Amino acid sequence: MLALLRPHRRRLLAAAVVTLAASGLALVQPAVLQSLVDTAGTHAPPLTLVGVLALAVVAESLCRGAAVYHVMSASESVTLDLRATLAQHALRLPLRRLETTRRGDLVTRLTADTSLVRQVLAAGMIEVASSAVLVVGSLVMMSLIDPRLTVLTGVLIALAIVMITPFARRLRGATGRYQASLGVLGAEFDSALSSIRLVRSYAAEDGRTARIATDARRSWGLGLQVARLSAAVEPVIGIATQGALLAVLLVGGIRVGNGELTLGALVAFLVYLFMVILPTAQLLGALTRIQAGVAALARVDELMQEPTEPQGGLPCAGPGGVVPALELVRASFEYEPGRGLYDVDLVVPSGQHTAIVGPSGSGKSTLLSLLQRLYEPTDGELRVFGDPAALLDARSLRRRIDYVEQNAPALATSLRDNLLLADPGLDDATMLRALARVGLAGAAERGLELTIGDGGIALSGGERQRLAWARLLLSSSDVVLLDEPTSNVDTATESVFDALVQDLLAQRTVVTVSHRLVAVRSAHQIVVVDEGRIVGQGTHSELLDDCPTYRDLVAHDAARLSAAADPARR
Ligand SMILES: Nc1ncnc2c1ncn2[C@@H]1O[C@H](COP(=O)(O)OP(=O)(O)O)[C@@H](O)[C@H]1O
Ligand SMILES: [Mg+2]
Repeated sequence: MLALLRPHRRRLLAAAVVTLAASGLALVQPAVLQSLVDTAGTHAPPLTLVGVLALAVVAESLCRGAAVYHVMSASESVTLDLRATLAQHALRLPLRRLETTRRGDLVTRLTADTSLVRQVLAAGMIEVASSAVLVVGSLVMMSLIDPRLTVLTGVLIALAIVMITPFARRLRGATGRYQASLGVLGAEFDSALSSIRLVRSYAAEDGRTARIATDARRSWGLGLQVARLSAAVEPVIGIATQGALLAVLLVGGIRVGNGELTLGALVAFLVYLFMVILPTAQLLGALTRIQAGVAALARVDELMQEPTEPQGGLPCAGPGGVVPALELVRASFEYEPGRGLYDVDLVVPSGQHTAIVGPSGSGKSTLLSLLQRLYEPTDGELRVFGDPAALLDARSLRRRIDYVEQNAPALATSLRDNLLLADPGLDDATMLRALARVGLAGAAERGLELTIGDGGIALSGGERQRLAWARLLLSSSDVVLLDEPTSNVDTATESVFDALVQDLLAQRTVVTVSHRLVAVRSAHQIVVVDEGRIVGQGTHSELLDDCPTYRDLVAHDAARLSAAADPARR
Protein backbone atom coordinates (compact mmCIF):
# COMPACT_ATOMS: atom_id res chain seq x y z
CA MET A 1 0.00 0.00 0.00
CA LEU A 2 2.71 2.45 1.00
CA ALA A 3 4.67 1.51 -2.10
CA LEU A 4 1.64 2.49 -4.15
CA LEU A 5 1.41 5.90 -2.50
CA ARG A 6 5.11 6.76 -2.70
CA PRO A 7 5.16 8.03 -6.31
CA HIS A 8 2.38 10.46 -5.45
CA ARG A 9 3.81 11.74 -2.17
CA ARG A 10 4.10 15.37 -3.39
CA ARG A 11 0.44 15.62 -4.20
CA LEU A 12 -0.47 13.87 -0.94
CA LEU A 13 1.80 16.24 0.98
CA ALA A 14 0.08 19.19 -0.68
CA ALA A 15 -3.26 17.70 0.33
CA ALA A 16 -2.05 17.28 3.90
CA VAL A 17 -0.85 20.90 4.07
CA VAL A 18 -4.13 22.39 2.84
CA THR A 19 -6.10 20.06 5.09
CA LEU A 20 -4.08 21.16 8.09
CA ALA A 21 -4.50 24.80 7.10
CA ALA A 22 -8.27 24.34 6.76
CA SER A 23 -8.51 22.72 10.18
CA GLY A 24 -6.37 25.46 11.74
CA LEU A 25 -8.61 28.11 10.21
CA ALA A 26 -11.68 26.31 11.51
CA LEU A 27 -10.25 26.18 15.03
CA VAL A 28 -9.62 29.93 15.09
CA GLN A 29 -13.24 30.80 14.35
CA PRO A 30 -14.95 29.87 17.67
CA ALA A 31 -12.25 31.72 19.64
CA VAL A 32 -12.93 34.87 17.61
CA LEU A 33 -16.64 34.27 18.05
CA GLN A 34 -16.19 34.01 21.79
CA SER A 35 -14.61 37.49 22.05
CA LEU A 36 -17.27 38.90 19.71
CA VAL A 37 -20.11 37.55 21.85
CA ASP A 38 -18.54 38.54 25.14
CA THR A 39 -17.84 42.14 23.98
CA ALA A 40 -21.20 42.53 22.21
CA GLY A 41 -23.10 43.47 25.36
CA THR A 42 -20.71 46.27 26.40
CA HIS A 43 -19.86 48.06 23.12
CA ALA A 44 -20.21 47.73 19.33
CA PRO A 45 -18.37 44.66 17.91
CA PRO A 46 -14.88 45.59 16.62
CA LEU A 47 -14.93 45.49 12.80
CA THR A 48 -11.46 43.96 12.63
CA LEU A 49 -12.68 40.88 14.52
CA VAL A 50 -15.66 40.51 12.16
CA GLY A 51 -13.26 40.86 9.21
CA VAL A 52 -10.93 38.19 10.65
CA LEU A 53 -13.85 35.84 11.14
CA ALA A 54 -15.12 36.34 7.59
CA LEU A 55 -11.63 35.87 6.17
CA ALA A 56 -11.14 32.66 8.16
CA VAL A 57 -14.43 31.25 6.86
CA VAL A 58 -13.55 31.99 3.21
CA ALA A 59 -9.96 30.77 3.51
CA GLU A 60 -11.04 27.55 5.23
CA SER A 61 -13.51 26.77 2.46
CA LEU A 62 -10.93 27.39 -0.24
CA CYS A 63 -8.43 25.12 1.52
CA ARG A 64 -11.04 22.35 1.79
CA GLY A 65 -11.69 22.61 -1.94
CA ALA A 66 -7.98 22.33 -2.68
CA ALA A 67 -7.68 19.34 -0.36
CA VAL A 68 -10.52 17.52 -2.10
CA TYR A 69 -8.89 18.10 -5.47
CA HIS A 70 -5.41 16.97 -4.41
CA VAL A 71 -6.54 13.85 -2.62
CA MET A 72 -8.95 12.79 -5.35
CA SER A 73 -6.47 13.32 -8.14
CA ALA A 74 -3.77 11.48 -6.19
CA SER A 75 -6.09 8.57 -5.57
CA GLU A 76 -7.04 8.45 -9.26
CA SER A 77 -3.35 8.24 -10.08
CA VAL A 78 -2.76 5.54 -7.49
CA THR A 79 -5.70 3.59 -8.95
CA LEU A 80 -4.29 4.02 -12.45
CA ASP A 81 -0.97 2.56 -11.31
CA LEU A 82 -2.73 -0.23 -9.47
CA ARG A 83 -4.82 -1.19 -12.52
CA ALA A 84 -1.90 -1.03 -14.91
CA THR A 85 0.35 -3.18 -12.72
CA LEU A 86 -2.46 -5.60 -11.97
CA ALA A 87 -3.25 -6.08 -15.66
CA GLN A 88 0.40 -6.52 -16.51
CA HIS A 89 0.87 -9.00 -13.69
CA ALA A 90 -2.26 -10.99 -14.56
CA LEU A 91 -1.27 -11.34 -18.20
CA ARG A 92 2.07 -12.75 -17.13
CA LEU A 93 0.77 -15.39 -14.74
CA PRO A 94 1.59 -18.95 -15.80
CA LEU A 95 -0.77 -20.08 -18.55
CA ARG A 96 -2.00 -23.05 -16.51
CA ARG A 97 -2.98 -20.70 -13.69
CA LEU A 98 -5.03 -18.57 -16.08
CA GLU A 99 -6.61 -21.59 -17.74
CA THR A 100 -7.80 -22.97 -14.44
CA THR A 101 -9.36 -19.74 -13.17
CA ARG A 102 -12.56 -18.01 -14.13
CA ARG A 103 -11.90 -14.89 -16.16
CA GLY A 104 -14.82 -12.94 -14.72
CA ASP A 105 -13.23 -12.97 -11.28
CA LEU A 106 -10.02 -11.48 -12.61
CA VAL A 107 -12.07 -8.83 -14.40
CA THR A 108 -13.84 -7.81 -11.18
CA ARG A 109 -10.55 -7.52 -9.36
CA LEU A 110 -9.28 -5.13 -12.00
CA THR A 111 -12.46 -3.06 -12.11
CA ALA A 112 -14.75 -3.28 -9.06
CA ASP A 113 -12.09 -3.96 -6.42
CA THR A 114 -9.73 -1.25 -7.58
CA SER A 115 -12.68 1.18 -7.58
CA LEU A 116 -13.30 0.42 -3.92
CA VAL A 117 -9.65 0.95 -3.15
CA ARG A 118 -9.77 4.29 -4.92
CA GLN A 119 -12.89 5.38 -3.09
CA VAL A 120 -11.17 4.62 0.20
CA LEU A 121 -8.06 6.51 -0.75
CA ALA A 122 -10.09 9.54 -1.75
CA ALA A 123 -12.87 9.69 0.80
CA GLY A 124 -11.00 7.87 3.53
CA MET A 125 -7.87 9.95 3.49
CA ILE A 126 -9.55 13.36 3.32
CA GLU A 127 -11.96 12.49 6.09
CA VAL A 128 -9.50 10.78 8.34
CA ALA A 129 -6.82 13.45 8.04
CA SER A 130 -9.05 16.49 8.43
CA SER A 131 -11.28 14.89 11.06
CA ALA A 132 -8.40 13.78 13.22
CA VAL A 133 -6.85 17.26 13.25
CA LEU A 134 -10.18 18.94 13.96
CA VAL A 135 -11.11 16.56 16.76
CA VAL A 136 -7.79 16.82 18.55
CA GLY A 137 -7.57 20.60 18.03
CA SER A 138 -11.12 21.17 19.22
CA LEU A 139 -10.62 19.01 22.30
CA VAL A 140 -7.56 21.07 23.20
CA MET A 141 -9.46 24.34 22.75
CA MET A 142 -12.42 22.98 24.71
CA SER A 143 -10.24 21.96 27.63
CA LEU A 144 -8.88 25.52 27.71
CA ILE A 145 -12.46 26.80 28.06
CA ASP A 146 -13.83 24.17 30.43
CA PRO A 147 -11.83 21.03 31.34
CA ARG A 148 -14.66 19.29 33.17
CA LEU A 149 -17.14 19.61 30.30
CA THR A 150 -14.43 18.39 27.94
CA VAL A 151 -13.86 15.21 29.93
CA LEU A 152 -17.58 14.51 29.87
CA THR A 153 -17.69 14.88 26.08
CA GLY A 154 -14.51 12.86 25.60
CA VAL A 155 -15.86 9.93 27.63
CA LEU A 156 -19.07 9.77 25.57
CA ILE A 157 -17.15 9.78 22.29
CA ALA A 158 -14.59 7.23 23.45
CA LEU A 159 -17.46 4.95 24.45
CA ALA A 160 -18.99 5.26 21.00
CA ILE A 161 -15.69 4.35 19.35
CA VAL A 162 -15.24 1.30 21.58
CA MET A 163 -18.75 0.12 20.72
CA ILE A 164 -18.26 0.54 17.01
CA THR A 165 -14.87 -1.15 16.62
CA PRO A 166 -16.12 -4.77 16.52
CA PHE A 167 -18.66 -3.85 13.85
CA ALA A 168 -15.97 -2.29 11.71
CA ARG A 169 -13.88 -5.43 11.91
CA ARG A 170 -16.79 -7.66 10.93
CA LEU A 171 -17.59 -5.28 8.13
CA ARG A 172 -14.21 -5.92 6.56
CA GLY A 173 -14.88 -9.65 6.43
CA ALA A 174 -18.38 -9.10 5.06
CA THR A 175 -17.15 -6.76 2.36
CA GLY A 176 -14.45 -9.22 1.33
CA ARG A 177 -17.11 -11.91 0.88
CA TYR A 178 -19.32 -9.46 -0.99
CA GLN A 179 -16.57 -8.54 -3.45
CA ALA A 180 -15.69 -12.20 -3.95
CA SER A 181 -19.32 -12.94 -4.76
CA LEU A 182 -19.19 -10.19 -7.39
CA GLY A 183 -16.24 -12.06 -8.90
CA VAL A 184 -18.31 -15.25 -9.11
CA LEU A 185 -21.22 -13.33 -10.61
CA GLY A 186 -18.96 -11.77 -13.24
CA ALA A 187 -17.47 -15.15 -14.07
CA GLU A 188 -20.87 -16.77 -14.58
CA PHE A 189 -22.02 -13.94 -16.83
CA ASP A 190 -18.77 -14.04 -18.77
CA SER A 191 -19.05 -17.76 -19.41
CA ALA A 192 -22.64 -17.40 -20.63
CA LEU A 193 -21.65 -14.61 -22.98
CA SER A 194 -18.61 -16.35 -24.36
CA SER A 195 -20.67 -19.38 -25.32
CA ILE A 196 -23.75 -17.39 -26.34
CA ARG A 197 -24.22 -19.24 -29.64
CA LEU A 198 -24.33 -22.58 -27.86
CA VAL A 199 -26.69 -21.15 -25.25
CA ARG A 200 -29.01 -19.80 -27.98
CA SER A 201 -28.93 -22.96 -30.07
CA TYR A 202 -30.12 -25.05 -27.15
CA ALA A 203 -32.55 -22.34 -25.97
CA ALA A 204 -30.69 -22.46 -22.69
CA GLU A 205 -31.02 -18.76 -21.84
CA ASP A 206 -33.36 -19.43 -18.92
CA GLY A 207 -31.06 -22.00 -17.36
CA ARG A 208 -28.04 -19.73 -17.64
CA THR A 209 -30.06 -16.75 -16.39
CA ALA A 210 -31.16 -18.77 -13.38
CA ARG A 211 -27.53 -19.48 -12.50
CA ILE A 212 -26.58 -15.84 -12.89
CA ALA A 213 -29.60 -14.85 -10.79
CA THR A 214 -28.55 -17.31 -8.08
CA ASP A 215 -25.13 -15.70 -7.94
CA ALA A 216 -26.69 -12.25 -7.98
CA ARG A 217 -28.93 -13.27 -5.09
CA ARG A 218 -25.91 -14.50 -3.14
CA SER A 219 -24.31 -11.06 -3.64
CA TRP A 220 -27.57 -9.48 -2.54
CA GLY A 221 -27.56 -11.49 0.69
CA LEU A 222 -23.98 -10.55 1.41
CA GLY A 223 -24.78 -6.93 0.52
CA LEU A 224 -27.58 -6.99 3.10
CA GLN A 225 -25.12 -8.28 5.67
CA VAL A 226 -22.87 -5.32 4.88
CA ALA A 227 -25.90 -3.04 5.15
CA ARG A 228 -26.86 -4.45 8.57
CA LEU A 229 -23.37 -3.98 9.93
CA SER A 230 -23.19 -0.42 8.57
CA ALA A 231 -26.65 0.29 9.98
CA ALA A 232 -25.71 -0.99 13.44
CA VAL A 233 -23.09 1.73 13.64
CA GLU A 234 -25.56 4.56 13.02
CA PRO A 235 -27.59 4.50 16.29
CA VAL A 236 -24.40 4.29 18.33
CA ILE A 237 -23.11 7.42 16.63
CA GLY A 238 -26.48 9.14 17.01
CA ILE A 239 -26.82 8.44 20.73
CA ALA A 240 -23.25 9.47 21.48
CA THR A 241 -23.45 12.75 19.57
CA GLN A 242 -26.91 13.72 20.73
CA GLY A 243 -26.00 12.75 24.28
CA ALA A 244 -22.85 14.84 24.25
CA LEU A 245 -24.74 17.84 22.89
CA LEU A 246 -27.53 17.62 25.48
CA ALA A 247 -25.09 17.08 28.33
CA VAL A 248 -23.05 20.12 27.36
CA LEU A 249 -26.17 22.29 26.94
CA LEU A 250 -27.51 21.21 30.32
CA VAL A 251 -24.31 21.44 32.35
CA GLY A 252 -23.05 24.45 30.41
CA GLY A 253 -26.39 26.27 30.73
CA ILE A 254 -26.37 25.80 34.53
CA ARG A 255 -22.81 27.09 34.77
CA VAL A 256 -23.59 30.18 32.67
CA GLY A 257 -26.54 30.82 35.03
CA ASN A 258 -24.22 30.49 38.03
CA GLY A 259 -21.80 32.91 36.38
CA GLU A 260 -19.05 30.28 36.23
CA LEU A 261 -18.96 30.52 32.43
CA THR A 262 -19.47 33.48 30.08
CA LEU A 263 -22.09 33.19 27.33
CA GLY A 264 -19.35 33.64 24.71
CA ALA A 265 -17.40 30.75 26.24
CA LEU A 266 -20.46 28.46 26.06
CA VAL A 267 -21.10 29.45 22.43
CA ALA A 268 -17.47 28.79 21.54
CA PHE A 269 -17.55 25.47 23.43
CA LEU A 270 -20.65 24.38 21.53
CA VAL A 271 -19.11 25.24 18.19
CA TYR A 272 -16.01 23.24 19.16
CA LEU A 273 -18.28 20.41 20.23
CA PHE A 274 -19.76 20.32 16.74
CA MET A 275 -16.25 20.27 15.40
CA VAL A 276 -15.66 17.15 17.45
CA ILE A 277 -19.01 15.49 16.83
CA LEU A 278 -19.37 15.90 13.07
CA PRO A 279 -15.83 14.80 12.22
CA THR A 280 -16.04 11.90 14.69
CA ALA A 281 -19.17 10.67 12.98
CA GLN A 282 -17.41 11.16 9.65
CA LEU A 283 -14.34 9.42 10.95
CA LEU A 284 -16.31 6.41 12.10
CA GLY A 285 -18.12 6.28 8.75
CA ALA A 286 -14.79 6.55 7.00
CA LEU A 287 -13.39 3.73 9.12
CA THR A 288 -16.12 1.37 7.96
CA ARG A 289 -15.50 2.42 4.36
CA ILE A 290 -11.79 1.94 4.86
CA GLN A 291 -12.46 -1.60 6.08
CA ALA A 292 -14.30 -2.23 2.81
CA GLY A 293 -11.37 -0.85 0.86
CA VAL A 294 -8.91 -2.95 2.82
CA ALA A 295 -10.94 -6.03 1.93
CA ALA A 296 -10.86 -5.06 -1.75
CA LEU A 297 -7.18 -4.27 -1.59
CA ALA A 298 -6.59 -7.72 -0.11
CA ARG A 299 -8.21 -9.28 -3.17
CA VAL A 300 -6.06 -7.18 -5.48
CA ASP A 301 -2.97 -7.95 -3.45
CA GLU A 302 -3.69 -11.68 -3.42
CA LEU A 303 -3.41 -11.67 -7.20
CA MET A 304 -0.32 -9.47 -7.17
CA GLN A 305 1.43 -11.90 -4.81
CA GLU A 306 1.00 -14.84 -7.15
CA PRO A 307 4.22 -15.56 -8.97
CA THR A 308 4.23 -14.78 -12.67
CA GLU A 309 5.99 -17.12 -15.03
CA PRO A 310 9.75 -16.55 -14.74
CA GLN A 311 10.71 -13.18 -16.21
CA GLY A 312 14.08 -12.31 -17.68
CA GLY A 313 16.86 -14.67 -18.68
CA LEU A 314 19.18 -14.83 -21.64
CA PRO A 315 17.94 -13.67 -25.03
CA CYS A 316 17.13 -16.58 -27.32
CA ALA A 317 20.06 -16.85 -29.73
CA GLY A 318 18.23 -18.26 -32.74
CA PRO A 319 19.63 -20.70 -35.26
CA GLY A 320 23.40 -20.73 -35.10
CA GLY A 321 25.30 -23.81 -36.23
CA VAL A 322 23.77 -27.16 -36.95
CA VAL A 323 21.87 -27.71 -33.71
CA PRO A 324 18.29 -28.93 -33.56
CA ALA A 325 15.79 -26.08 -33.52
CA LEU A 326 13.82 -27.59 -30.66
CA GLU A 327 14.42 -30.54 -28.46
CA LEU A 328 12.43 -32.16 -25.67
CA VAL A 329 14.51 -34.32 -23.35
CA ARG A 330 12.58 -36.86 -21.26
CA ALA A 331 9.93 -34.20 -20.87
CA SER A 332 6.65 -34.77 -19.07
CA PHE A 333 3.72 -32.50 -18.40
CA GLU A 334 0.56 -33.23 -16.45
CA TYR A 335 -2.78 -31.43 -16.40
CA GLU A 336 -3.88 -33.79 -13.70
CA PRO A 337 -2.66 -37.22 -12.65
CA GLY A 338 -2.76 -39.61 -15.61
CA ARG A 339 -3.58 -36.87 -18.08
CA GLY A 340 -0.84 -35.17 -20.07
CA LEU A 341 2.36 -36.12 -21.85
CA TYR A 342 4.97 -38.51 -20.53
CA ASP A 343 8.69 -39.14 -21.23
CA VAL A 344 8.82 -37.27 -24.48
CA ASP A 345 12.14 -37.40 -26.32
CA LEU A 346 11.84 -35.37 -29.47
CA VAL A 347 14.32 -33.66 -31.77
CA VAL A 348 13.00 -31.08 -34.23
CA PRO A 349 15.79 -30.58 -36.77
CA SER A 350 16.39 -27.06 -38.09
CA GLY A 351 14.99 -26.24 -41.51
CA GLN A 352 12.96 -29.43 -41.73
CA HIS A 353 9.29 -30.31 -41.63
CA THR A 354 8.24 -32.37 -38.63
CA ALA A 355 4.67 -33.68 -38.62
CA ILE A 356 2.86 -34.81 -35.50
CA VAL A 357 -0.01 -37.25 -35.91
CA GLY A 358 -2.14 -39.26 -33.52
CA PRO A 359 -5.72 -39.94 -32.46
CA SER A 360 -7.75 -37.07 -31.05
CA GLY A 361 -6.99 -36.46 -27.37
CA SER A 362 -3.60 -38.15 -27.61
CA GLY A 363 -1.64 -35.03 -26.62
CA LYS A 364 -0.64 -33.38 -29.91
CA SER A 365 -1.75 -29.87 -28.97
CA THR A 366 -0.17 -30.25 -25.55
CA LEU A 367 3.10 -31.16 -27.27
CA LEU A 368 3.03 -27.94 -29.29
CA SER A 369 2.32 -25.92 -26.13
CA LEU A 370 5.40 -27.48 -24.55
CA LEU A 371 7.48 -26.62 -27.61
CA GLN A 372 6.62 -22.91 -27.27
CA ARG A 373 7.11 -23.11 -23.49
CA LEU A 374 3.51 -22.11 -22.88
CA TYR A 375 3.60 -24.87 -20.29
CA GLU A 376 6.72 -25.67 -18.31
CA PRO A 377 7.53 -29.38 -18.38
CA THR A 378 6.98 -30.89 -14.94
CA ASP A 379 9.93 -33.17 -15.65
CA GLY A 380 12.74 -33.11 -18.18
CA GLU A 381 13.50 -30.07 -20.28
CA LEU A 382 12.99 -28.13 -23.48
CA ARG A 383 16.00 -26.92 -25.46
CA VAL A 384 15.74 -24.16 -28.00
CA PHE A 385 18.59 -23.95 -30.52
CA GLY A 386 20.72 -25.94 -28.11
CA ASP A 387 20.09 -23.79 -25.02
CA PRO A 388 17.98 -25.00 -22.07
CA ALA A 389 14.72 -23.03 -22.36
CA ALA A 390 14.64 -22.50 -18.60
CA LEU A 391 17.64 -20.17 -18.90
CA LEU A 392 16.11 -18.17 -21.73
CA ASP A 393 13.81 -15.18 -21.54
CA ALA A 394 10.41 -16.69 -22.31
CA ARG A 395 9.23 -13.77 -24.39
CA SER A 396 12.37 -13.63 -26.50
CA LEU A 397 12.06 -17.38 -27.03
CA ARG A 398 8.43 -17.11 -28.12
CA ARG A 399 9.21 -14.34 -30.57
CA ARG A 400 11.42 -16.83 -32.42
CA ILE A 401 8.62 -19.38 -32.54
CA ASP A 402 5.26 -18.79 -34.20
CA TYR A 403 2.40 -20.88 -32.90
CA VAL A 404 -0.91 -21.12 -34.70
CA GLU A 405 -3.34 -22.76 -32.32
CA GLN A 406 -6.03 -25.20 -33.22
CA ASN A 407 -8.98 -23.19 -34.65
CA ALA A 408 -6.65 -20.19 -35.01
CA PRO A 409 -8.22 -17.78 -32.54
CA ALA A 410 -7.99 -14.13 -33.58
CA LEU A 411 -7.66 -10.96 -31.51
CA ALA A 412 -11.13 -9.45 -31.12
CA THR A 413 -10.05 -6.18 -32.74
CA SER A 414 -9.14 -5.36 -36.33
CA LEU A 415 -7.59 -7.27 -39.19
CA ARG A 416 -4.64 -4.90 -38.91
CA ASP A 417 -4.04 -5.62 -35.21
CA ASN A 418 -4.02 -9.33 -35.95
CA LEU A 419 -1.32 -8.91 -38.56
CA LEU A 420 0.73 -6.41 -36.57
CA LEU A 421 1.21 -9.13 -33.95
CA ALA A 422 3.80 -10.52 -36.38
CA ASP A 423 5.71 -7.25 -36.52
CA PRO A 424 4.47 -3.86 -35.28
CA GLY A 425 6.37 -2.03 -38.03
CA LEU A 426 4.53 -3.54 -41.01
CA ASP A 427 3.12 -1.24 -43.70
CA ASP A 428 -0.31 -1.69 -45.25
CA ALA A 429 0.93 -2.78 -48.69
CA THR A 430 2.91 -5.68 -47.21
CA MET A 431 -0.03 -6.78 -45.12
CA LEU A 432 -2.40 -6.65 -48.10
CA ARG A 433 0.03 -8.75 -50.17
CA ALA A 434 0.14 -11.42 -47.46
CA LEU A 435 -3.67 -11.47 -47.25
CA ALA A 436 -3.90 -11.88 -51.03
CA ARG A 437 -1.40 -14.74 -50.92
CA VAL A 438 -3.64 -16.75 -48.55
CA GLY A 439 -6.80 -15.90 -50.45
CA LEU A 440 -8.12 -13.26 -48.09
CA ALA A 441 -7.98 -10.38 -50.58
CA GLY A 442 -11.78 -10.24 -50.36
CA ALA A 443 -11.79 -9.53 -46.62
CA ALA A 444 -8.95 -7.06 -47.09
CA GLU A 445 -11.01 -5.09 -49.62
CA ARG A 446 -13.27 -4.09 -46.75
CA GLY A 447 -10.19 -2.52 -45.20
CA LEU A 448 -7.58 -3.50 -42.64
CA GLU A 449 -9.72 -1.80 -40.00
CA LEU A 450 -12.35 -4.52 -40.40
CA THR A 451 -13.28 -5.47 -36.86
CA ILE A 452 -13.40 -9.01 -35.69
CA GLY A 453 -15.81 -9.60 -32.80
CA ASP A 454 -14.93 -11.37 -29.57
CA GLY A 455 -13.55 -14.73 -30.62
CA GLY A 456 -13.35 -13.71 -34.28
CA ILE A 457 -17.05 -13.88 -35.13
CA ALA A 458 -16.81 -11.71 -38.26
CA LEU A 459 -14.46 -14.28 -39.82
CA SER A 460 -15.33 -17.88 -40.60
CA GLY A 461 -13.18 -20.61 -39.10
CA GLY A 462 -11.40 -21.09 -42.42
CA GLU A 463 -10.84 -17.35 -42.78
CA ARG A 464 -9.32 -17.21 -39.32
CA GLN A 465 -6.95 -20.00 -40.25
CA ARG A 466 -5.92 -18.16 -43.40
CA LEU A 467 -5.46 -14.96 -41.41
CA ALA A 468 -3.07 -16.90 -39.18
CA TRP A 469 -1.16 -18.15 -42.24
CA ALA A 470 -0.85 -14.55 -43.46
CA ARG A 471 0.61 -13.64 -40.08
CA LEU A 472 3.19 -16.40 -40.49
CA LEU A 473 4.24 -14.95 -43.83
CA LEU A 474 4.74 -11.57 -42.18
CA SER A 475 6.65 -12.70 -39.12
CA SER A 476 10.37 -13.27 -39.01
CA SER A 477 10.29 -16.23 -36.64
CA ASP A 478 12.67 -19.18 -37.03
CA VAL A 479 10.23 -21.91 -36.12
CA VAL A 480 6.56 -22.30 -37.03
CA LEU A 481 4.20 -24.53 -35.02
CA LEU A 482 0.83 -25.21 -36.63
CA ASP A 483 -2.01 -27.11 -34.96
CA GLU A 484 -4.45 -28.63 -37.47
CA PRO A 485 -3.92 -25.60 -39.75
CA THR A 486 -6.28 -26.75 -42.52
CA SER A 487 -9.09 -28.22 -40.42
CA ASN A 488 -11.60 -25.61 -41.63
CA VAL A 489 -10.62 -24.97 -45.24
CA ASP A 490 -11.64 -26.64 -48.50
CA THR A 491 -9.43 -28.92 -50.60
CA ALA A 492 -8.36 -26.13 -52.97
CA THR A 493 -7.18 -24.04 -50.05
CA GLU A 494 -5.37 -27.06 -48.59
CA SER A 495 -3.04 -26.99 -51.58
CA VAL A 496 -2.44 -23.25 -51.07
CA PHE A 497 -1.32 -24.20 -47.58
CA ASP A 498 0.92 -27.04 -48.74
CA ALA A 499 2.69 -24.62 -51.11
CA LEU A 500 3.00 -22.14 -48.25
CA VAL A 501 4.73 -24.74 -46.07
CA GLN A 502 7.24 -25.42 -48.84
CA ASP A 503 7.96 -21.65 -49.00
CA LEU A 504 8.33 -21.39 -45.24
CA LEU A 505 10.77 -24.32 -45.25
CA ALA A 506 13.23 -22.27 -47.30
CA GLN A 507 14.06 -20.30 -44.16
CA ARG A 508 12.29 -21.87 -41.22
CA THR A 509 11.64 -24.98 -39.26
CA VAL A 510 8.05 -26.17 -39.54
CA VAL A 511 6.13 -28.41 -37.14
CA THR A 512 2.57 -29.32 -38.06
CA VAL A 513 -0.08 -31.31 -36.28
CA SER A 514 -2.33 -32.81 -38.91
CA HIS A 515 -5.24 -35.12 -39.51
CA ARG A 516 -4.51 -35.18 -43.22
CA LEU A 517 -2.09 -38.06 -43.43
CA VAL A 518 -1.65 -37.60 -47.14
CA ALA A 519 -0.27 -34.13 -46.56
CA VAL A 520 2.36 -35.24 -44.06
CA ARG A 521 3.83 -38.05 -46.14
CA SER A 522 6.42 -35.68 -47.53
CA ALA A 523 7.49 -34.45 -44.07
CA HIS A 524 11.11 -35.09 -43.14
CA GLN A 525 9.98 -36.86 -40.02
CA ILE A 526 6.63 -37.95 -38.66
CA VAL A 527 6.02 -38.29 -34.92
CA VAL A 528 3.17 -40.52 -33.77
CA VAL A 529 1.57 -39.70 -30.42
CA ASP A 530 -0.85 -41.98 -28.61
CA GLU A 531 -2.24 -41.71 -25.09
CA GLY A 532 0.29 -39.12 -24.02
CA ARG A 533 3.38 -40.92 -25.30
CA ILE A 534 5.41 -40.91 -28.49
CA VAL A 535 4.87 -44.34 -30.01
CA GLY A 536 6.64 -43.91 -33.33
CA GLN A 537 9.05 -41.61 -35.07
CA GLY A 538 10.47 -41.74 -38.63
CA THR A 539 9.55 -41.27 -42.26
CA HIS A 540 6.27 -42.40 -43.78
CA SER A 541 7.69 -45.68 -45.09
CA GLU A 542 9.60 -46.45 -41.90
CA LEU A 543 6.48 -45.95 -39.82
CA LEU A 544 4.34 -48.06 -42.16
CA ASP A 545 6.80 -50.85 -41.46
CA ASP A 546 7.07 -50.65 -37.72
CA CYS A 547 4.33 -48.50 -36.13
CA PRO A 548 0.92 -50.17 -35.84
CA THR A 549 -0.75 -46.94 -34.61
CA TYR A 550 0.50 -45.17 -37.72
CA ARG A 551 -0.76 -47.98 -39.98
CA ASP A 552 -4.19 -47.63 -38.34
CA LEU A 553 -4.25 -43.88 -38.83
CA VAL A 554 -3.25 -44.23 -42.48
CA ALA A 555 -5.85 -46.92 -43.07
CA HIS A 556 -8.62 -44.80 -41.52
CA ASP A 557 -7.55 -41.76 -43.50
CA ALA A 558 -7.54 -43.75 -46.74
CA ALA A 559 -11.00 -45.13 -46.00
CA ARG A 560 -12.26 -41.62 -45.32
CA LEU A 561 -10.77 -40.29 -48.54
CA SER A 562 -12.11 -43.02 -50.76
CA ALA A 563 -15.56 -42.70 -49.20
CA ALA A 564 -15.46 -38.99 -49.96
CA ALA A 565 -14.28 -39.61 -53.52
CA ASP A 566 -16.89 -42.27 -54.21
CA PRO A 567 -20.18 -41.33 -52.54
CA ALA A 568 -21.92 -44.34 -54.10
CA ARG A 569 -20.02 -46.67 -51.73
CA ARG A 570 -21.46 -45.01 -48.65
N1 LIG B 1 -6.49 -27.21 -20.56
C1 LIG B 1 -6.60 -28.51 -20.24
N2 LIG B 1 -6.90 -28.87 -18.98
C2 LIG B 1 -7.02 -30.18 -18.63
N3 LIG B 1 -6.83 -31.18 -19.48
C3 LIG B 1 -6.54 -30.90 -20.75
C4 LIG B 1 -6.40 -29.55 -21.21
N4 LIG B 1 -6.08 -29.55 -22.52
C5 LIG B 1 -6.03 -30.86 -22.87
N5 LIG B 1 -6.29 -31.67 -21.82
C6 LIG B 1 -6.31 -33.15 -21.84
O1 LIG B 1 -5.04 -33.59 -22.26
C7 LIG B 1 -5.17 -34.64 -23.20
C8 LIG B 1 -4.48 -34.26 -24.50
O2 LIG B 1 -5.12 -33.15 -25.06
P1 LIG B 1 -4.64 -32.48 -26.41
O3 LIG B 1 -3.18 -32.23 -26.32
O4 LIG B 1 -5.50 -31.30 -26.67
O5 LIG B 1 -4.92 -33.63 -27.47
P2 LIG B 1 -4.94 -33.57 -29.05
O6 LIG B 1 -4.46 -32.24 -29.50
O7 LIG B 1 -4.05 -34.67 -29.48
O8 LIG B 1 -6.36 -33.83 -29.48
C9 LIG B 1 -6.66 -34.88 -23.36
O9 LIG B 1 -6.99 -35.97 -22.56
C10 LIG B 1 -7.32 -33.63 -22.84
O10 LIG B 1 -8.53 -33.93 -22.24
MG1 LIG C 1 -5.46 -30.81 -30.49
